[in-house]
Amino acid sequence: MGFSWYYFLGILLCIINVCRGGITSSYVRNVESSEDMPLDSDVFKAPHGYNAPQQVHITQGDDVGKGVIVSWVTVNEPGSNIVLYWKANSKIKQKAKGTVTTYKYYTYTSGYIHHCSIQNLKYNTKYYYMVGIGHTTRTFWFVTPPPVGPNVPYTFGLIGDLGQTYDSNMTLTHYEMNPTKGQTVLFVGDLSYADKYPNHDNNRWDTWGRFVERSNAYQPWIWTAGNHDVDFAPEIGEPEPFKPYTHRYPVPYKASGSTSPLWYSIKRASAYIIVLSTYSATTKYTPQYKWLEAELKKVNREETPWLIVLMHCPWYNSYDYHYMEGETMRVIYEPWFVKSKVDMVFAGHVHAYERSKRISNVDYKIINGECTPVNNPSAPVYITIGDGGNIEGLATKLTEPQPMYSAYRESSFGHAILDIKNRTHAYYSWHRNQDGFSAKADSFLFFNRYWHPVDESY
Ligand SMILES: [Fe+2]
Repeated sequence: MGFSWYYFLGILLCIINVCRGGITSSYVRNVESSEDMPLDSDVFKAPHGYNAPQQVHITQGDDVGKGVIVSWVTVNEPGSNIVLYWKANSKIKQKAKGTVTTYKYYTYTSGYIHHCSIQNLKYNTKYYYMVGIGHTTRTFWFVTPPPVGPNVPYTFGLIGDLGQTYDSNMTLTHYEMNPTKGQTVLFVGDLSYADKYPNHDNNRWDTWGRFVERSNAYQPWIWTAGNHDVDFAPEIGEPEPFKPYTHRYPVPYKASGSTSPLWYSIKRASAYIIVLSTYSATTKYTPQYKWLEAELKKVNREETPWLIVLMHCPWYNSYDYHYMEGETMRVIYEPWFVKSKVDMVFAGHVHAYERSKRISNVDYKIINGECTPVNNPSAPVYITIGDGGNIEGLATKLTEPQPMYSAYRESSFGHAILDIKNRTHAYYSWHRNQDGFSAKADSFLFFNRYWHPVDESY
């Protein structure tokens, strides 16, 4: 074959690649509706002992990873707000004092919800911590991240729309058993699905807290609010949005200059993580808009090469569910994402998996009608990871043909791992629940948009 034939073949392949979508997985699974685990399941059991702390969970407690917020619930009485903590190789115990709160929701009254912020920890260090001082104590541990810096490897797990079904349990187990160990979970919203029960039965927030404790007490989960976390129910006298969620899951929003726990940012190892709220006001002049506008200017890719955005509702979604729900937000913020060279955007909401190519749709004006996403090496890759396995079941209806921007899509439950290697490369993999723990159903080698801005998505 001469040069011209190679040239022709290249053009042909390019046309096929650009004009047609990627892969719609042919994987065949049993599509059955997900079923919540019954209340007497072992995953929901409360710990033994008088006033024993339950639903223990941690999240990052400052902007750089030297802080941890420890939260837990006691049910008999408030008990102590103290957390004792110590380095793994030390017997010297330190003490931090937290706060306690309760809330009411319709006829439900919460237990005593404790939050304790521990600051100025040493990087890269294993700590033990004890809660329940004075009554039944329980001890857990966590490892702080390495110092923030450009070449720091770090591994994030990705879970969304988890709920508390048998499938949710399988997703969490697969995440825990994945041989590539996630060090921190980036959770893209919709936690307990308590709102699927009559009057948003908040006991299901408690069962969810007990269910995920086995992971969340030992590694931080970075929280994003989803629609099932709004719990807006004026018809039963509950008009305050996000009431259970914000009482239970504090985040270090003030450290990033945010005025709301629903949007904030953290730095962790080599990543700058921006969390947005799809269910708060996003238009011009709103608090979230103003915060994000200023926030993107603060990102220093020489310090944190990887710019990651978390939100609940996806902007690019080729399933027949939640079609265009994220469109108003996309129209406003997408030009900023392209300008800032965001590496990747993780969302949930659609209960399936999808990965996009690097595309943007920022040239659209209502007068020119141009509204087709185009290849754009400065654009993020969009990943929908709302496949945690909640009670609403899988999203199985796909729009056909697969849009050109959709690289891979599959209706299966699972989780993903983002394994940041250095400032230029990050290895990403998606794992469906039906496979063995080490199997990858989809994978992708990310090139960093700032340090190595080659479009790797085609
Ligand atoms: Fe959702």
